[in-house]
Amino acid sequence: MLHPRPSELSLSAFVAHYGDIYEHSPWVAEAAWQQGLREEHDSPGALAILMGKMLQNAPAEQQVAIIQAHPDLAGKAALAGALTQDSTREQAGAGLDKCSKEEFSRFEALNEAYKNKFGFPFVIAVKGLDRHAILAAFEERLHNDVLTERATAIEQIVRIACFRLTARALGE
Ligand code: GUN
Repeated sequence: MLHPRPSELSLSAFVAHYGDIYEHSPWVAEAAWQQGLREEHDSPGALAILMGKMLQNAPAEQQVAIIQAHPDLAGKAALAGALTQDSTREQAGAGLDKCSKEEFSRFEALNEAYKNKFGFPFVIAVKGLDRHAILAAFEERLHNDVLTERATAIEQIVRIACFRLTARALGE
C-alpha cells in the first residue's frame, strides 16, 4: 500500500508526493487525480495503471515531451551527478555507473545515433537488466521506425513508473 494514501490526498498534496513518478512531468499525477482517486488507487499497481492511461491517452506532443524529459543512459548528466534520485538509482542498479571507458564510448555513440534518428533519447526500463542487455536492446531498437519507437518509449516509461511506485510502497 502507498503511504501517504493517494485517495486521501488533496490535488496539491498528491502532486507533491507523486508528481515525480513521471520524470519532470507532474501533469501526469494531476491528470490522474482529476479522474477521481478511490481506495483501490492506494495500491501501487492500480495507481500505475491509472497514471499510465493518462500518458497513453495524451496528445503525441505531450508524449514526445515526456520522452525528452529523460536523461541519456550512462550520459554526461549521470557522470556529473545531475540526475533525479530515481534515475540515479535506476542507472546504478543496472551497473551503468560501472561502465568501462569502452562501454561509456559505446553508450555515447548509441545515444547520439538514436537521438539523431528519432529526435528523443533512448528510454528503457532498466530494472532487472544489466548493461550488456541494455546495449543489445539499444542496438536492436535503433532499427525501428519512429512511430514504433515512440510507442515503445511510452510503454517503457509506464513500466518505469510502475517500478517507481512499487519501490515507494516498499519504502525503498
Ligand atoms: N530507464 C530507467 N531510468 C532511466 C533514465 O534515467 N533514463 C533513461 N533514458 N532510461 C531510463
